[in-house]
Amino acid sequence: MERDNTKNKKLWGGRFGESTESTVEDFTESVSFDKRLYAHDIRGSIAHARMLGETGIIPKEDADKIIQGLEEIRSRIEAGEFQWKKELEDVHMNIEQALTELIGPAGGRLHTARSRNDQVATDFRLYLRDEIEHLDGLLKDLQLAFLHQAETNLGVILAGFTHLQKAQPVLYSHHMLAYFEMFKRDRERLADCLKRVNISPLGSAALAGTSYPIDRHMTARELGFSDITRNSMDAVSDRDFALEFLFCASVIMMHLSRLCEELILWMSWEFSYIELPDAYCTGSSIMPQKKNPDVPELVRGKTGRVYGALVSLLTTLKGLPLTYNRDLQEDKELVFDTIDTVRASVKLMTGVVEKMRPRADKMAQDTQTGFLTATDLADYLVKKGLPFRQAHEVVGKAVGTCVSQGKELHELPIEELKALHPLIDDDVLDVLSVEGSVHSRRCPGGTGIEPVKEALSQAKTWIEKYTLPSS
Ligand code: ARG
Repeated sequence: MERDNTKNKKLWGGRFGESTESTVEDFTESVSFDKRLYAHDIRGSIAHARMLGETGIIPKEDADKIIQGLEEIRSRIEAGEFQWKKELEDVHMNIEQALTELIGPAGGRLHTARSRNDQVATDFRLYLRDEIEHLDGLLKDLQLAFLHQAETNLGVILAGFTHLQKAQPVLYSHHMLAYFEMFKRDRERLADCLKRVNISPLGSAALAGTSYPIDRHMTARELGFSDITRNSMDAVSDRDFALEFLFCASVIMMHLSRLCEELILWMSWEFSYIELPDAYCTGSSIMPQKKNPDVPELVRGKTGRVYGALVSLLTTLKGLPLTYNRDLQEDKELVFDTIDTVRASVKLMTGVVEKMRPRADKMAQDTQTGFLTATDLADYLVKKGLPFRQAHEVVGKAVGTCVSQGKELHELPIEELKALHPLIDDDVLDVLSVEGSVHSRRCPGGTGIEPVKEALSQAKTWIEKYTLPSS
């Protein structure tokens, strides 16, 4: 059936003889999700309009009208008085159409020397820049929570694990500061990503640049970009800045997920190494005794969707010839969902880490089993002159004997200990204590009380001084 194109006016409708199928409209529209970019779209348009006015490409009065109109639209959106229209496809055309309705024909000059292709790339970069700044602040709070744990529990010792087998005693503070380091690198990684996000593609127009005498540096400066892109074809089709962000987000989720896994284990009856506040746990509808670590479990679970977003965008991009292709519209929901997920996960886990309480008694009790100081005994022999390999053998045999007798090394009578090797003397008892073991690990980066205090003070200095560069 012949459709009436006047009923369904598109900003690009000039060459079209019939209106869009409603299924096609539903399938292609993006305003339902990209309206989230409205503030950045308006910011980008204001900078563009001002530049058009200053360079004389459009009359200055029109530029002023456009800027005022855009500000009015922003207020309406923020007041919830703006009606988004699916027929207008995306955030860009919704705002442009509303502008023309508001200020008349001058609104039609805004899109001079610009295309939605450079517009959307600009908006998305501005948006990601803000999100990176926000996320950096959330990660800082998380790091502060680890610092708080490390500082208020200095001296608490627990078994450190390798292969999920008891290995050597460590300070709980050292364990907490390990996470501080991970999130420090994550913040630095975001800063590095920001360097490539914060470049202005505006002025690349559809793909080939523009014949108008635009001033790209003026708009870049106004928008706080650190530079302009160098190739218009690359600029309208590049999304590796978004990919990099998704990678950074994936690493953050991976770190959170490792933390979650550990806390879930620690909260189990068998470990009982930490208590989480009731407010962060949920119960079972059938088993009245249960207190489940649902928050860490969900964060661990949500890691999958963030990795999914990264792989999804990588896959979307791999088949795209230069330059803009509509496939690129798929970048937004992936990034938005990732931002929502990472933000919530970091915030929730900050609450968990702030409020969790280590059970020093249970941790201490568990350090008494599992031969945590076997390495210390070997080192003791080495320090008395035995080659390490031989010392390892001697202690290995001793452990074997103990296992068969159901005893720990420190439970052997001193005479039996001495009988293990002629170099073993009364002073061996200090070496077999977990406190002695921890405190002997004085090398920088080790778990001894001195290096951990040093690490704590370095961490505090770092967190006070560090700011996201160019923010
Ligand atoms: N909604 C589009 C996107 O997200 C905006 C750019 C559309 N450009 C175009 N030539 N159809 O990619």
